[in-house]
Amino acid sequence: MKHFLNLKEIPKKKLRSILSDAKKRKKYRENFNNLDLDKTELLNGKIIIQIFDKPSLRTRLSFYLAVKQLGAGIITVKNDELHFAKGEESIADTAKILSNYADGIILRSNSDKKMEEFSRYLNIPLINGLTPSSHPVQILSDIFTIEEIKKKPIAKLKICWIGDSNNVLNSLMEASVKFSFKLNIACPKNYSPNNKFFSWVKRNNKYVLVYNDPLKAARDVDVIMSDKVISLNDKVNKKNKIKDFKKFKINKQIIKVAKKDAIFLHCLPRGNEVSEDVFSSNQSKVWLQAINRTHVQKSILLYCFDKLR
Ligand code: CP
Ligand code: NVA
Repeated sequence: MKHFLNLKEIPKKKLRSILSDAKKRKKYRENFNNLDLDKTELLNGKIIIQIFDKPSLRTRLSFYLAVKQLGAGIITVKNDELHFAKGEESIADTAKILSNYADGIILRSNSDKKMEEFSRYLNIPLINGLTPSSHPVQILSDIFTIEEIKKKPIAKLKICWIGDSNNVLNSLMEASVKFSFKLNIACPKNYSPNNKFFSWVKRNNKYVLVYNDPLKAARDVDVIMSDKVISLNDKVNKKNKIKDFKKFKINKQIIKVAKKDAIFLHCLPRGNEVSEDVFSSNQSKVWLQAINRTHVQKSILLYCFDKLR
């Protein structure tokens, strides 16, 4: 069994196998209903528990579908329904019990430390469904979407991130090393990428560049990505932060300097960081991006259970 915690720790080859498995799986399900089971039911007899410290629409429901389609059962609990959230039961004891009652855990946590500690005590796979500093299942799925639309390996493309230096960007930066793609990051001066992630990325990918001007960062790129300025874990002065990002709002002017066939992606939910005309344009592929999460997460689950084709 394997955990799926951060892209940095997973061998390049394995990440590539997850994506190629997902491609076959998506094709196979072209005429299926959401809850139709895959013929092979590779996770038949298993039960997956998903625990959410924070709100979720996409991650929660796409994992629900992924687990069901693979023939397993799923229970979703909010963290405040468990003892360990309130400190009444240790992470170690909770993990011991869950390792017996369940076959796999998906956790969205408000603490990186908790994710790490939990993974050490569990004897069953743990999948990271977002922490304050990472969102690896989102980014692996986004790479799938980019390659599906562009019909070429992401290593041949230039990606641009415009927005906050947050958890989604950290996972995107890790992906740029694993998949060897060029990444331009545009953010205000005081919001530079987290040094813990950035220094490792810079040592391993010299094609990651930071700009303080979105027009420079977006020039001739194939993909523009963004996320909310205010994340779930942000304890900042929201008004001030939104003001600081005013110049970084993605509008038609910014899209125009990218390649003609450039696409726009956003993990959702959105805030005010993208104009309505860009968000609802033909270049925006956000709905396909969300749909693809189910396919990729099925392959992530199979990777964890050593059942990848
Ligand atoms: N993109 C994403 O993870 O969305 P949710 O917060 O709704 O799960
Ligand atoms: N950066 C966002 C991502 C939501 C999917 C957050 O952490 O709230």
